[in-house]
Amino acid sequence: MRDPRYDILFEPVRIGPVTARNRFYQVPHCNGMGYRMPRALAAMRAVKAEGGWGVVCTEEVEIHHSSDLAPNIEGRLWDDGDIPALAAMAEAVHRNGALAGIELAYHGHHASGLYSRAPGLGVRSIGVSGYHPDRAAKAGGMPRTTIGGDDPFHRRDRDEKRTLERQVREDARRLIQESAKRFLGEQPFRELTVETLMANTELSRPAFYQYFTDVHDLILSLLTEIEAEMHRLDPQAYS
Ligand SMILES: Cc1cc2nc3c(=O)[nH]c(=O)nc-3n(C[C@H](O)[C@H](O)[C@H](O)COP(=O)(O)O)c2cc1C
Repeated sequence: MRDPRYDILFEPVRIGPVTARNRFYQVPHCNGMGYRMPRALAAMRAVKAEGGWGVVCTEEVEIHHSSDLAPNIEGRLWDDGDIPALAAMAEAVHRNGALAGIELAYHGHHASGLYSRAPGLGVRSIGVSGYHPDRAAKAGGMPRTTIGGDDPFHRRDRDEKRTLERQVREDARRLIQESAKRFLGEQPFRELTVETLMANTELSRPAFYQYFTDVHDLILSLLTEIEAEMHRLDPQAYS
């Protein structure tokens, strides 16, 4: 018989909007399969869920190509093309009654960039990592210690800031579009309001108007995307 002191481990626990069936939380754990063997990875995580874990996590998942950890094979969320592999794991875990967790990772200075060849973004006090001295070439060959000034390294800092700002804007816009797609998958357009749309994102309601003038503008942006995708798939039929 189980010692009653451990009963709490087997009780459901709420985590924000979801509930884990127990308190067994499988921490982020890489295993070499990562982005390269998504089916095997999903099956392995599914076995963990089947075995009873309340939450099963991914390994660290690189959120940008400038955070590439090659030659280590981790998870990737560099762009939309990586979503199906991650979704396959989440679905396999859900099928077996557990929640799926994701560890979003940006490694900055620690990333090798050996595959993407992109320097990591962000301010750092030293330009060369002991793990990845080859990054020195990509970072301009010199340490960057401060922001400001007008030498090439400082200019690069400003470019990085602009790149990050653009990325944040693009991500926010996409978040709103995704929220609209989910909504329209279940309910008619006439029910769509900015309030419900934004309640399903982590953005504030007024943030909507930084990206779209109204819901019609938003739908137009989705249709434009669909048109571009159809054109990509069959350039002749849709030119
Ligand atoms: C093979 C291996 C891979 C790991 N991968 C990750 C990882 O991708 N992300 C992370 O945050 N921690 C990672 N860790 C650390 C584990 O999440 C955990 O913190 C560590 O194993 C200590 O917990 P434990 O005593 O329950 O094993 C890894 C550990 C091991 C042994």
